[in-house]
Amino acid sequence: MLNNPATHLFADRLWKDLQDVLDRLDEAQSLWLIDYLAAKSNGREVIPSPDQKTNVLIAYGSETGNSERLARQLGNQAEKEGIQAQVATLADVRVRQLLKYQYLFVICSTHGDGDPPQPVSAFYNALMEEEAIDLQQLNYAVLALGDSTYEHFCATGKQLDERLSALHAARLLARVDCDVDYAVAAQAWMDAILKVVPRDKSAIGHRPLSHHSVSQQAARKVYSRQHPFVVEVLENLRLSANHRTNAIHHISVAVDASDFSMTPGDAVGVLVENPPALVAAILDAANLPGEQAVLVDSQAMPLVQALRETRDLTVPGQRLLESWAQLANDDQLKAVLAADHKIQRDFLRTHQLIDLISKYPATPDAQVFVDSLRPLQPRLYDLANSQRYIDDELHLTVQQYRYSFHNRVELGIASDYLLNIQPGESMRIYPHANPRFRLPEAQDVPLILIADGTGIAPYRSFLQELRAAQIARRCWLVFAEQEFEEDFLYQLDWQQAHADGVLSHVDTVFYVDQPWRSLADPLLEQAKRFTEWMEKGAHLYLCGDRTRLTQCEHSLKFWLGETRRAELWEQINNSKRIHRNLY
Ligand SMILES: Cc1cc2nc3c(=O)[nH]c(=O)nc-3n(C[C@H](O)[C@H](O)[C@H](O)COP(=O)(O)OP(=O)(O)OC[C@H]3O[C@@H](n4cnc5c(N)ncnc54)[C@H](O)[C@@H]3O)c2cc1C
Ligand SMILES: Cc1cc2nc3c(=O)[nH]c(=O)nc-3n(C[C@H](O)[C@H](O)[C@H](O)COP(=O)(O)O)c2cc1C
Repeated sequence: MLNNPATHLFADRLWKDLQDVLDRLDEAQSLWLIDYLAAKSNGREVIPSPDQKTNVLIAYGSETGNSERLARQLGNQAEKEGIQAQVATLADVRVRQLLKYQYLFVICSTHGDGDPPQPVSAFYNALMEEEAIDLQQLNYAVLALGDSTYEHFCATGKQLDERLSALHAARLLARVDCDVDYAVAAQAWMDAILKVVPRDKSAIGHRPLSHHSVSQQAARKVYSRQHPFVVEVLENLRLSANHRTNAIHHISVAVDASDFSMTPGDAVGVLVENPPALVAAILDAANLPGEQAVLVDSQAMPLVQALRETRDLTVPGQRLLESWAQLANDDQLKAVLAADHKIQRDFLRTHQLIDLISKYPATPDAQVFVDSLRPLQPRLYDLANSQRYIDDELHLTVQQYRYSFHNRVELGIASDYLLNIQPGESMRIYPHANPRFRLPEAQDVPLILIADGTGIAPYRSFLQELRAAQIARRCWLVFAEQEFEEDFLYQLDWQQAHADGVLSHVDTVFYVDQPWRSLADPLLEQAKRFTEWMEKGAHLYLCGDRTRLTQCEHSLKFWLGETRRAELWEQINNSKRIHRNLY
């Protein structure tokens, strides 16, 4: 037996017991144990190791849930067809684990400006940097999700596909790049996948998916974007200054916790509606009567309802361009259609739907028109209350979104809908779980909560949760907005939380009052506390505006490096104690 090389960690007796166990393991068991211990210490989900039969991994990279939903759908379909497959997020996969699989099916979206979904960036970086690994035993296929209005359409899926091939994995099927109306293309890809994987007949009907997928499905089985919950709006209050353009509102809806249960850190998916004036303008420009019946997903409804509730009326897609060019019989449109992809994309990006159909007049068939429009996407808003604290309401904090388009100012569709919704009206919602943005289980570690603007919402739900559970812990809130006098969102809640002992420190940055200050400044000004808390295992949360919070994260990391404490950042990062919710 090897002499105890770590007497400071193991008593001789424990060391001997460990050696006895290790001596009994074969090579496969030892390798599995190494992975298991590494995953556990990094706070990762432990992916069950594949046995002889379960050598298919369906891995997703998702930020707003579409890829995850498709991956679970593929997992269920595979199970029914007798294929043993594990479903896991790429965030829980280590590159070397891919060596153990024969089949890998990746479903991954693109976010930011052509970036991987935030939870999977570590896997993505590791795969791109990996030099030594040879994946020649692996057969794979990639389904890329994206939005063709973005410059880097499906960039992450494309990069993963190329990288796996460069590492000698065998591409089973050509990659499929999906736009926002991905349902048909994704289903065809899944059907094709299931045709090429060998069946394990003994597994039909009774093999469970990974524990991970089973528990999540159970938790979410009732409401989804396809089957939303209809709730009544209770109040819609302006929280921010009257004079500012992008107002922030607090919206509460009536929901019983026993009907619709959510965890602080989760988001509420909202099925929004287009503004009536835009619907009227589109009907007018297309010369169509609103009352004409059309079918949407086999359901009959008046055209006006289909346009208001189910179709994107701002961004024209490729299908609309194709059908409209034919219909309008216009040379310029036909030339765009005949040109390369970049010219088509630029054309679509510089025309909103109303511009296109007004500039090139035509009268389409109502059903053809509806079928050629992109589906209206639901939007996510972080839950701003805890159902343990208030069990019959859900709260949202919504900022008006505004952007310039040519020479006019446009309002964001969902935020405009929500800012104008009235008490007594109904709203369609579904829960969107965000397991990476949760309170830590350990009750004694400090929390550092950093928010810009509406990024404050989940922290309100965190603190209410702690109050309901009567847990006092070291908790430091850093909040940035525009003006102290009028934009200190939920100020009374923070005062109350402080008085109740669940919030120990609150710091603010108000950009209009103190234009020189940045979000990281309060932490760096109190560097002693910041480093002490980091050393004591603090969890760091970043929520809200992607640009400002990324900048804040860089400043903190840079400062630690400058002060020779770079390892603190490494530790907090490796042990998954940084939680990001950026949009
Ligand atoms: C996990 C998560 C949590 C979130 N939580 C919150 C929250 O708590 N509070 C909150 O206020 N927001 C939150 N958001 C953001 C929210 O989901 C919406 O993205 C935001 O409200 C803007 O949506 P909108 O419909 O108003 O804007 P949209 O109408 O979707 O416009 C947004 C963007 O689309 C572009 N665009 C739209 N139409 C066109 C066009 N025709 N041509 C070119 N460009 C176009 C615009 O440039 C603009 O940048 C969250 C997002 C995520 C992902
Ligand atoms: C903030 C944001 C940025 C996005 N950036 C891109 C992009 O650069 N390229 C792209 O093809 N799609 C982009 N998309 C579209 C998403 O990839 C698409 O909505 C996808 O269906 C999301 O899948 P998910 O829910 O699995 O994350 C972006 C979406 C959002 C909300």
